[in-house]
Amino acid sequence: MYSKTVIDRFQNPRNAGGMHGANAIGQVGNAACGDIMKMYLKINDNGVIENAKFKTFGCCAAIASTDMACDLIKGKTIDEALKVTNKDVLKLLGELPPHKIHCSLMAEESIRAAIEDYYKRREKEIKKGSKKNA
Ligand code: FES
Repeated sequence: MYSKTVIDRFQNPRNAGGMHGANAIGQVGNAACGDIMKMYLKINDNGVIENAKFKTFGCCAAIASTDMACDLIKGKTIDEALKVTNKDVLKLLGELPPHKIHCSLMAEESIRAAIEDYYKRREKEIKKGSKKNA
């Protein structure tokens, strides 16, 4: 049912866990199955993703997908990371059964949610800075 890569990523995820100093955290949930995925990113001042970690309450496909997604976006700029889709994740995982495709979509959505959070935080910082300087 699952490729060797999916099983390996599920059993030995490389990027599982939270992250101290994360400056972007995105959480998404899947209404259909009730699973939750949280993505933590450390984005540097040049807009490059230095590190990516995740916590997923979900199935084997969801865990493998997020783990792979983390590897895919590490070292990429924000713009490059936004172009990563679940198809890229699936290519590396070796496909998923059709009823598990939505799990890989959560990985894609969690990247976007984390980047959205990053922009919100930056906006707040800029507003704070402009108040101080006023
Ligand atoms: Fe819910 Fe995979 S994430 S079944």
